[in-house]
Amino acid sequence: MNYDIKDLGLAETGKLRIEWAERSMPVLRMIRERFRTEKPLAGTVLAACLHVTTETASLVHTLADGGAEVYLCASNPLSTQDDVAAALVSDGFHVFSIKGEDTQTYYKHINACLDKEPAITMDDGADLVGTIHSERRNLVAKILGGTEETTTGVIRLKSMAAKGVLLFPVIAVNDSSTKHLFDNRYGTGQSTIDGILRATNRLIAGSWFVVSGYGWCGRGVAMRAKGMGARVVVTEVNPLRALEAAMDGYYVMPMEEAAPLGDFFCTVTGDISVIRKEHFDRMKDGAIVCNSGHFNVEIDIGALEKSAVSRRIMRDFLEEFTMPDGRRIVLLGEGRLINLAAAEGHPSSVMDMSFANQALAAEYLVKHGKGLSREVHKLPQAVDNQIARLKLDAMGIRIDTLTEEQEHYLSSWEMGT
Ligand code: NAI
Repeated sequence: MNYDIKDLGLAETGKLRIEWAERSMPVLRMIRERFRTEKPLAGTVLAACLHVTTETASLVHTLADGGAEVYLCASNPLSTQDDVAAALVSDGFHVFSIKGEDTQTYYKHINACLDKEPAITMDDGADLVGTIHSERRNLVAKILGGTEETTTGVIRLKSMAAKGVLLFPVIAVNDSSTKHLFDNRYGTGQSTIDGILRATNRLIAGSWFVVSGYGWCGRGVAMRAKGMGARVVVTEVNPLRALEAAMDGYYVMPMEEAAPLGDFFCTVTGDISVIRKEHFDRMKDGAIVCNSGHFNVEIDIGALEKSAVSRRIMRDFLEEFTMPDGRRIVLLGEGRLINLAAAEGHPSSVMDMSFANQALAAEYLVKHGKGLSREVHKLPQAVDNQIARLKLDAMGIRIDTLTEEQEHYLSSWEMGT
């Protein structure tokens, strides 16, 4: 099997959308040009398990131009853009992903990529690494290392490394500043609101908007909801983050108190059962609940299904559950990442930096993978700085440079005055 996608006929639409996305990806374009001449990934088999979006298509082209043989599957059953998958296949790539695929097909597609015996794994949520460690350990000998895109994946991998069970080195792309400071905050902030709007077409202004988790993603979602005129409530378990949210001007309270207030609820914690039965029981009629964290476990959907007397799909990605007392609770995108389920994921300009990190991480693994310990590593600070400089250049923003005197002053302890 060389590919498994929905419909090759969608390729032309996909190609136009990819071209549009690439216009906002100048950093990746520069890397791609260098890769074309230097071929740093020559002959490397690379399995990528990423959201199959226009930006991912640009990354796939970049890796291939660097000489890699790329096999792509989805990192979430609902996040594939079928036209993008078709465009990539029509350009000769091997893609295994269909939007809405069931769990069995999802894992069949992951295994189809692993069947190609990759030297590098590129994950968004650690599903390739997880499958290799649980079912396909025979592949480990050929693996130089992996890369990981998201917070939830990095948490899993760090826990594997801490227990001594991680079998190859992984680069935590999420830990680069040019990734999480921008992608998680501004990318998730904008695209989550986009997903909610596309699914509901409701007015945010004046609503009570509850954000669970005030990490990088939560800060972004809260900031954008506030910008659209919502009264934003933050729920947290971490006292520092809660304090920061309070001083950033948000209402902070436990979910138990937020539940009867909220018109919109959005979880972005990377945790499990953040919204559960006792919260659904207190929500008002018409409350809209969604998730933008990596897995669909943040909302206890089982509890909602059990409590409901009836359910119906009213719009794409919008399902209404009626409770025994007549209240209606609305779940968006089956509780999966709403920005990818109902919208198109992060804007390209921000993925430009995330995927620049991915491309450079793959290059780094080819050069240094053999010497790396079986742990989770960060890309060197110099690479992070370089990506930031390239992005600033592309945005036409110039900054100052330290004078000799300033360098000396900042690195010496004698000069007190
Ligand atoms: P983070 O670690 O910076 O923040 C998570 C926050 O949630 C922490 O402050 C933590 O204290 C809080 N939290 C944990 N359990 C909680 C609970 N029960 N109630 C309230 N707060 C709780 O993580 P980050 O980077 O913000 O990522 C969050 C999730 O979003 C992860 O699953 C990540 O993989 C995912 N993600 C999704 C993206 C998307 O496109 N939708 C993009 C990037 C990350």
